[in-house]
Amino acid sequence: MSKTLIAYGTRYGATAEVAQEIATILREIYNLEVDLVDLSTSKIKDFCLYNNIVVGSGIKMGRWTSKARRLLQQFRKKILWEKN
Ligand SMILES: Cc1cc2nc3c(=O)[nH]c(=O)nc-3n(C[C@H](O)[C@H](O)[C@H](O)COP(=O)(O)O)c2cc1C
Repeated sequence: MSKTLIAYGTRYGATAEVAQEIATILREIYNLEVDLVDLSTSKIKDFCLYNNIVVGSGIKMGRWTSKARRLLQQFRKKILWEKN
C-alpha cells in the first residue's frame, strides 16, 4: 500500500491542526496509510519508506521552525536526487 508522510513543525498548534485535517482526508477519502509526525517530539529516520511526503511549518518572522528546516536540510540531497 502507498505510504504517506506528513511531517510538521509548529509553535502554537495551528499547523498541527492543519496537518491532522490533511491526514484525516488522505486516510478516509483516499484510503492512504499516513504517518503523522510532530517534528518537535519525533524524528524521521528514513524518507525512503514513503511514496508521498508532505512537510509543513508555521512561520514566525519569515522562518519555519528549526526542526522542519533541519528535516529538509537533512534529506536535501535525497529530495533533489529523487526529483531528477
Ligand atoms: C509572532 C508571530 C510572527 C509571525 N510571523 C509570520 C511571518 O513572518 N510570516 C507569515 O506568513 N506568518 C507569520 N505569522 C503567522 C503564523 O505563521 C501563523 O499564525 C501560523 O498558523 C502559526 O503556526 P503554528 O501555530 O503551527 O506555529 C506569525 C505569527 C506570530 C504569532
